[in-house]
Amino acid sequence: MRRVADGGQGMRQLRRSEEIQTAAAILKEGGLVAFPTETVYGLGAIATSADAVAGIYRAKGRPSDNPLIIHLGSVERVADWVKTVPPIAQVLAKRFWPGPLTMIFQHRGNLAANVTAGLPTVAVRVPDHPVAQALLLEVGIPVAAPSANRSGRPSPTEARHVWDDLHGKLAMILDGGPTGYGVESTVVDVTGEVPVLLRPGGVTLEQLREAVGAVEVDPGLTHEDVTPRSPGMKYRHYAPEGDLWLVREPWAEVKEALERAVKRHQAQGLRVGLLVTGEHKDLVAADLTVCCGWRRDPLSVAQQLYHALRTFDEKGMDVIFAETFPDEGLFRSVMNRLMKAAGGKILDLKR
Ligand code: TXA
Ligand code: MG
Repeated sequence: MRRVADGGQGMRQLRRSEEIQTAAAILKEGGLVAFPTETVYGLGAIATSADAVAGIYRAKGRPSDNPLIIHLGSVERVADWVKTVPPIAQVLAKRFWPGPLTMIFQHRGNLAANVTAGLPTVAVRVPDHPVAQALLLEVGIPVAAPSANRSGRPSPTEARHVWDDLHGKLAMILDGGPTGYGVESTVVDVTGEVPVLLRPGGVTLEQLREAVGAVEVDPGLTHEDVTPRSPGMKYRHYAPEGDLWLVREPWAEVKEALERAVKRHQAQGLRVGLLVTGEHKDLVAADLTVCCGWRRDPLSVAQQLYHALRTFDEKGMDVIFAETFPDEGLFRSVMNRLMKAAGGKILDLKR
């Protein structure tokens, strides 16, 4: 290995750039590399090779009708892969790229067909993370990357989560520490006149509306009986192995009822976990309390959510009761993931 004089920061950077070159070479040869982004870790393959992309679906156990997001290192390259970048998409790109926003465009047909699961549209994102950017610029062609979890598991927000889910199934994991947002990117369809929110994520609906005015919300997001327009949103997802129930009422107001519910389940021999914010961590006792950020700081809740869900599995909780959040800002994304993780189950505290 080459050496640098200081052995400190410079050495780390040299190692990092060697790692990135190695990762880029693996990708170009059709291999799989996991890399950090500002949202969650992605499992990458070059988006022009159907064989490489097939490896992603295989490694994750992902249904083949669920298309992938392509990642680019610079906004300028997007036009090479999509038919047009409509004016509204240009405004959104200027405001939110690089960043946790994915836009759906008509594609040009020059990507591997399994990237888009045969659809005429493609999801595109320019991530805002130094490791992801360096890697994508080094590769020079789009990298298809879903979240680097086994299908159905919570998305990985640390390199260790990727290892736990996928070791033996990929060539390399680039470790960039914990990710910044903790929930995935916001997916917006910009192929029609009015942009449509298909998945809430790191960029909030309020921020989108502030940038471009009207933004519709896919009815499939909020209505059980409507099929979501984003194929991935129809699957139960992010789910812990234990049985997760959401508590609608403000935690502090239902302390006694919660205590009764915990005891009732424990009496059946079940181990009960609680998913709460720091404000409520000592209110109710159970077998395990996992603290997930602070209510007064929505980003902290988003950042820690998936790690918290994974912790219940590690500690073998059979039942989990979780605090819920108002449908606004980043909490909307947190609630979307919690609802899916719980399969929509709400705990009845009146029993
Ligand atoms: O933050 C993120 O977006 C992460 C990081 C790695 O970039 N990636 C991610 O990918 O969350 P994935 O595959 O877990 O989620 C992609 C979502 C799915 O719900 C998928 O159905 C949707 O985007 N999607 C992809 N292509 C689409 C298309 N052409 N039309 C509608 N939805 C699409
Ligand atoms: Mg995913």
